[in-house]
Amino acid sequence: MSEGILQVEGLCANYGPIRALRGVSFSVGAGETVAVIGANGAGKTSLMRALSGMLPISAGRATFLGRDIARTRTHAMARAGLLHVPEGRGTLQGMRVLENLRLAWEIRPAKESFEDALAKAYQRFPRLQERSEQPAGNLSGGEQQMLAVARAIMNRPQLLLLDEPSMGLSPRFTGEVFKALAELRDAGVSILIVEQNVSRALQLAHRALVLTHGEFTLQGDAKALAKDPRVMASYLGQAPEAMA
Ligand SMILES: Nc1ncnc2c1ncn2[C@@H]1O[C@H](COP(=O)(O)OP(=O)(O)O)[C@@H](O)[C@H]1O
Ligand SMILES: [Mg+2]
Repeated sequence: MSEGILQVEGLCANYGPIRALRGVSFSVGAGETVAVIGANGAGKTSLMRALSGMLPISAGRATFLGRDIARTRTHAMARAGLLHVPEGRGTLQGMRVLENLRLAWEIRPAKESFEDALAKAYQRFPRLQERSEQPAGNLSGGEQQMLAVARAIMNRPQLLLLDEPSMGLSPRFTGEVFKALAELRDAGVSILIVEQNVSRALQLAHRALVLTHGEFTLQGDAKALAKDPRVMASYLGQAPEAMA
């Protein structure tokens, strides 16, 4: 694995007296997909927000392609290839679906033409083509999540930060979203994903980190962790013998 494109050292972040992140260190390599799993309130969203400049870093350091995240404007990060799909809806509600996709394409100087990128996004999510003239805010939750992932297809980021992409989705929509994410992974996009659907996340990822009360308590190969009794009991809702 080449040197990490995301490098995180001793990262801390707080909400007043609440210590959401208590010194986390990890890296994401070029082309690598890393899953962060953990219970509600473990600090997963706070990690994503700190890495995208939405939550101040109180100690430690995070760099993306060598740039200090705390000292670089969000816009400059986006142009350099960092795309954050926040928890809930990562879309511009008042804008039409097509405009959302165009803006995602425009953020980054892309090699691919807008038309080619759009054709790919619509091929992956035909539903969005049918809705292309609708304001994003009129879409169902599942369609909005598709739009958020379609924006990543348009944007071709170097690093995609995804917070709970399957939240509120039916199993069928979840399957479609994860198929699109696997294609981005296979195209060489680095992905850091936080996900309640732990088995899906571990199937997608190369590596996984378990976050407990703002600290990493376990990490390793994603396929190995999927069979780890501690992960199975706590996050996969299975007794260890159930999968033997
Ligand atoms: N806006 C906020 N104000 C105060 N505390 C918050 C806020 N957001 C999250 N927290 C607290 O920070 C901790 C981590 O939350 P969060 O990062 O949202 O966890 P997760 O995404 O893993 O469920 C929790 O204790 C949560 O209550
Ligand atoms: Mg969260």
